[in-house]
Amino acid sequence: MTVSSATLAAAGEGDAKPRHVAIIMDGNGRWAKSRMLPRIAGHRKGTEAAKAVVRGAVDLGLDYLTLYAFSTENWRRPADEVSDLMGLLRHFIRHDIEELADNGVRLKVIGDYQRLQPDLVKLIDAAILKTSNNRRTTLVIALNYGAQAEIARAARLLAEAVQAGQLDPADITPEQVEAQLYTQDIPPPDLLIRTSGEKRLSNFLLWQAAYAELMFVDTLWPDFGKVDLAAAVQAFAGRERRFGGL
Ligand code: FPP
Repeated sequence: MTVSSATLAAAGEGDAKPRHVAIIMDGNGRWAKSRMLPRIAGHRKGTEAAKAVVRGAVDLGLDYLTLYAFSTENWRRPADEVSDLMGLLRHFIRHDIEELADNGVRLKVIGDYQRLQPDLVKLIDAAILKTSNNRRTTLVIALNYGAQAEIARAARLLAEAVQAGQLDPADITPEQVEAQLYTQDIPPPDLLIRTSGEKRLSNFLLWQAAYAELMFVDTLWPDFGKVDLAAAVQAFAGRERRFGGL
């Protein structure tokens, strides 16, 4: 996809700009396979793409960018691939967050990331704390995230509040459920993009994406860049959102 720099600039302007873009980064394996490279090479290039896209989100003035980096289902992959992905993540948090933080990026994580390796959990917590006062763009990384587990967890927390006599079941509203999700302080995504031509949500932000505009692009994630993000943001501006109204 080729987009002019004027398009890139224009995409960041106007009221129809999404406040929150969420991305299912898909196609690393196919990118590598088509080059006869090991899957890790695709994930490595995918991490570079993630960095470029975060910089793009900052340039476009997006408030929130959520990246689906590791799902609760990804544990089913071969152990060495899981270990490679954790290694890339560790490197990203250790070395790349610094530069992003200097550009005003705040890090948040959604998902049961406490179950990752203890050193990685420590690095993540330190990066979250260190960037907590940044206000330009919030990078939300979904790690050990699954929407069904997130909703079940919210139900469990509400049930515990009922059991403790703190909540009347009759008072349970969508807002009450939302307050128990990992995304309690994050606005819902306006635009959800999936790369690589697959048209599935794969257990990503099922509750939060209720009114998101969905965009499926054929580009494999390692080839996705700043201009592709800008093009998606521009295409979003042309969509009419009615939120169930007329
Ligand atoms: C999907 O490609 C990609 C993943 C499961 C992992 C995404 C992770 C990264 C891009 C690296 C870490 C991210 C950050 C934010 C540092 P796939 O392997 O499912 O591709 P395929 O469908 O072509 O096999």
